[in-house]
Amino acid sequence: MKLLAIESSCDETGAAVVELRDKKLLLHSTIVATSMQLHSQTGGIIPEIAAREQSTYMIPVVLQALQKAHCIRNKTTIPDIDAIAVTYGPGLIGSLLVGVETAKTLSYVWNKPLIPVNHLFGHIYANFLSFDTIRFPLIALIVSGAHTDLLLMKSHTNSTWLGGTRDDAAGECFDKVGRMLGLSYPAGPAIEKLAHLGNPKAFHFPRPLIHDNAFDFSFSGLKTAVLRAVEKTKNITEQDVQNLCRGVQDAIIDVVVSKTIRAAKKYGVQSILLSGGVAANQTLKKAFLKDIEQTPIALYVPQRSLCTDNAAMIGAAALYHQQGKPATDVSADPELYFE
Ligand code: KG4
Ligand code: ZN
Repeated sequence: MKLLAIESSCDETGAAVVELRDKKLLLHSTIVATSMQLHSQTGGIIPEIAAREQSTYMIPVVLQALQKAHCIRNKTTIPDIDAIAVTYGPGLIGSLLVGVETAKTLSYVWNKPLIPVNHLFGHIYANFLSFDTIRFPLIALIVSGAHTDLLLMKSHTNSTWLGGTRDDAAGECFDKVGRMLGLSYPAGPAIEKLAHLGNPKAFHFPRPLIHDNAFDFSFSGLKTAVLRAVEKTKNITEQDVQNLCRGVQDAIIDVVVSKTIRAAKKYGVQSILLSGGVAANQTLKKAFLKDIEQTPIALYVPQRSLCTDNAAMIGAAALYHQQGKPATDVSADPELYFE
């Protein structure tokens, strides 16, 4: 089965062609256009600008993905695909509508079934695109700019949501702290770099809910603690910024690693899958590897380009669920979450 996948839940516009052949996932093409340059000037995503850019990028991105995968001869022929997958939520309503309405139109015109995909579930499947050795049961951790969630998956079709953030997401905490320190958006990569130069003993920030047995997270109090520290530090030096970055990154990593590993041990899983933009953080990966060293658990982290938003992961998730629907039954759902 070969799919065209479309992703436009936040500021990226993605299209990809993926295939499941002889139980192997094949990535034929993936194209991502981003309006991040415009948003980094304003310190965050402006939904209207994101959607306006996506509506101009969408068709060229879809055509490029189909052409790169050799699925279409010219713009007037029906492409050689079996179905179309599209992110229908969660996300920004204007952005989601660009992807969903494009996918519905193409599904109708080309007479191909439409597979609606939960964006969060899609993030997990970036791992299946990158590795073919993943074994169930597994714990999936999604750490992005908008979400921090833990899931137990016993198979592709049997998953249980264990918990998520009660307030800010891990990536949001990185971004908001970055804003306090004058770093450009999104701040995660810059904080990771500066943290390398910071003194781990200079600031010790709280680790919210780290000892709580539930699998929920909370990062809003941590963000406030950093704000208080910034306010208290007069004439902030470059070294202070590096120390603050180190302090906040250590706190986020401690919480995320400790809760994920607790879940992995509780459910006796074979694999831990990281996903979402924050999974690109190499210090986080190293912390996981150190803590599972003495266990039989295997850690999987997708390559950087598949950690952040892309359509390939949406196509991969669709291939394992394959519930095609008539185009008229699919609509954007910005508040979509796990059942
Ligand atoms: O998954 P993603 O591309 O978009 C959402 O669906 O939210 O994640 C973006 C988030 C941003 O908050 C960004 O600061 C964070 O991922 N991020 C990082 C790193 N690279 C991206 N956070 C920490 N360290 C990184 N290296
Ligand atoms: Zn995402």
